Amino acid sequence: MDIKITNDIRYIGVDDHKIDLFEGLYDVPNGMAYNSYVILDEKIAVMDTVGDGFGDEWLGKLDAALAGRRPDYLVVQHVEPDHSANIAAFMERFPDATICASQQAFKLIAAFYGRDYADRRMVVAQDAKLELGRHTLTFFTAPMVHWPEVVMTYDSADKVLFSADAFGKFGAQDYDDPEGWSCEARRYYFGIVGKFGAQVQALLKKLSGVELKTICSLHGPILTGDLSEYLTLYNTWSGYGVETEGVVIAYTTVYGHTREAAEYLAEQLRKNGVKRVVVNDLARTDMYEDVEDAFRHGKLVLCTTTYNGGVFPVMREFIEHLTERGYQNRTVALVENGAWAPMAAKGMRAMLEGCKDITFTNASVKVLASLTDESRAQLDALAKELAE
Ligand code: FEO
Repeated sequence: MDIKITNDIRYIGVDDHKIDLFEGLYDVPNGMAYNSYVILDEKIAVMDTVGDGFGDEWLGKLDAALAGRRPDYLVVQHVEPDHSANIAAFMERFPDATICASQQAFKLIAAFYGRDYADRRMVVAQDAKLELGRHTLTFFTAPMVHWPEVVMTYDSADKVLFSADAFGKFGAQDYDDPEGWSCEARRYYFGIVGKFGAQVQALLKKLSGVELKTICSLHGPILTGDLSEYLTLYNTWSGYGVETEGVVIAYTTVYGHTREAAEYLAEQLRKNGVKRVVVNDLARTDMYEDVEDAFRHGKLVLCTTTYNGGVFPVMREFIEHLTERGYQNRTVALVENGAWAPMAAKGMRAMLEGCKDITFTNASVKVLASLTDESRAQLDALAKELAE
């Protein structure tokens, strides 16, 4: 794609349509963009490289943008290999270029690629500046958003923030996502960055006084126009706030009886006036969509079977995804099924013990094999409480 960001800033990233799992975990049916940019001024800076297997395509785009000139700097904002795999190719092709990166980034470059460019480096820290001519780049350190070495880069001339992975989303650049930015950006955020809410909040604070016209992430579309939607969502997500009022029922089922309980509860919630009820069968839906739904909404029902005297494996995995990402500030209800000795609720409650500001509902539900009048009455009471 030939994208001109401003008069001096060009897009030279690539689309990966062959990838199945991003970072070996995340399903990306619409591909993945590895974004890279070049700033053409008296001096020329290239912003990050691209993933393995795309070096020739990327260098071809860079050559076209350079139109015979040579770059002075390679800014390495993030060393994860989807952006750093072509550092060596770049440095060989442009032997006069200097790498600008954080101290920690050079350590990671050495760890991944066996050399640290000691003689061709410029170490940047918070507020360091790089003068290109009309453009002055200012570096913002963003440790643990979502790796320790990350820096972001602000161009005060065109008011562009190069945001490393922040504000990124799944999907190739040439994929016009009918769901807009937020759906796959949210799945990306909670999957990859979600654990680091405090660090994202610190970054947003640093950026609060900065005038922004464009955000150039390393993944997904270039964000322009009214940026408040993106910034507000990032603030809500990283602050573990509730984005959407509603109840998520996350369930697992073995013979369909726990599904029946989940669906009955959903029906009762709607009858009690809950406008948004999301029902996810954890074994049959994308786990990271389920994680995203849990963090998006204010109320979560965990509805599962007792298995090996504890919590059903897929539910266990789901709760681990939540707790390791700092799940907090939510209302949680527990629905357990167990034909002879239900134990799942106890196990789920124990798993959530370390989470901050979790309010468990007064009502809970015990299903003994299949729904009865008694367990239906418990689900009725739970629906009423959740609807309040
Ligand atoms: Fe896009 Fe964290 O690499």
